[in-house]
Amino acid sequence: MLENIQVSLGERSYPIDIGVDSLDVLGSELAEHNLPRRMAIISNPTINAIYGKTVYSSLLAHGFTPLQFDIPDGEEYKTVEILQTIYDFLISNEFDRGCGIIALGGGVVGDIAGFAAATFLRGIPYVQIPTTLLAQVDSSVGGKTAVNHDLGKNLIGAFYQPELVFIDIAVLDTLEYRDFVAGIAEIVKYGVIRDYDFFCWLENNVQQIKDKDREALMYAINKSCCIKAEIVAADEREGSVRAILNYGHTFGHAIEKLSGYGEWKHGEAVSVGMVVAAKISCQRNLCSQLDVERICSLLKAFDLPTESPSFELSEYVASMRLDKKVKQGDLTLVLNSGIGDVVLQKIANIEEVFSTIL
Ligand code: NAD
Ligand code: GLY
Repeated sequence: MLENIQVSLGERSYPIDIGVDSLDVLGSELAEHNLPRRMAIISNPTINAIYGKTVYSSLLAHGFTPLQFDIPDGEEYKTVEILQTIYDFLISNEFDRGCGIIALGGGVVGDIAGFAAATFLRGIPYVQIPTTLLAQVDSSVGGKTAVNHDLGKNLIGAFYQPELVFIDIAVLDTLEYRDFVAGIAEIVKYGVIRDYDFFCWLENNVQQIKDKDREALMYAINKSCCIKAEIVAADEREGSVRAILNYGHTFGHAIEKLSGYGEWKHGEAVSVGMVVAAKISCQRNLCSQLDVERICSLLKAFDLPTESPSFELSEYVASMRLDKKVKQGDLTLVLNSGIGDVVLQKIANIEEVFSTIL
């Protein structure tokens, strides 16, 4: 039995299917959606070793011709060089516009395989099968695809929506604890930016979530996907409200880049970025000190980091200046107004603002 959330984008609309132990019905679900029969399953060796066979067999059993291709495991491989190996694989296997891609993995696989789908032959259909919590609540939904550049996160990419997002929450059982809690950072983000009641629910369900209680996880994932789907439907290409999903990300991306991609998990960096954003919000009288403490405490309760690594202010500032959100030298920060709402504020004096926080 799959729960279903719709991302409503006119002709680019697609469903998010959420189930438990549902991977083996993937083939029938894809067949129902009339997807190409020839599919490249892009994954990595870690995930392929656990779930590759189930996905492959399910596709085969429903008339698909799956081919498997692994990229190396790790954020440091979300690069144009690895993207090139995906193109090589598709071209050497004579993929054409009647073929498709399945991204089987976390945010790294999803982002790079999605970008391959967006650009190969000017776009072929693809499906997201997110296998980390972070990918299930965030990166697989909304069509942001990208690779990193040495000078900045996700600087090369495209908006390109999948045909379907297929979530099996049982795959989270094999996820390492550090990767699991990294995904919780994005869940906390939804509470802070959009839903005070959800934030309170998270405060009251820390242990259930950490224990991977199925009911609690289903609720948190469903709620997160609903919030993201609604925001993406309102603003697919980040012309307005979608920017609020970047809460904590400008500073988080700087941490990821400065520490060398892969050292910090994306969700861990976002956790610290949210604390920094909350402190700036408090300084600007947008929220109370108590709000900052609640955000900080909730992240700590999930064993997430809340302290910035000690890079020089000048390094943070230089890195943030290269962020995608900078326009003509001004950085737009997403700041929380209390808990459950946000505002966007343009910051011209980046050094000054961050010097008081770091
Ligand atoms: P990840 O993809 O690196 O996965 C983390 C680790 O978990 C990897 O080692 C992976 O092999 C392993 N893994 C994945 N699923 C597993 C499973 N079920 N069992 C065991 N191991 C498993 O990291 P992530 O946190 O999923 O994604 C981070 C990336 O997502 C970053 O590159 C970030 O920029 C991107 N992101 C994109 C968006 C977007 O909107 N496109 C949003 C948020 C984050
Ligand atoms: N993770 C930010 C976005 O999807 O817009």
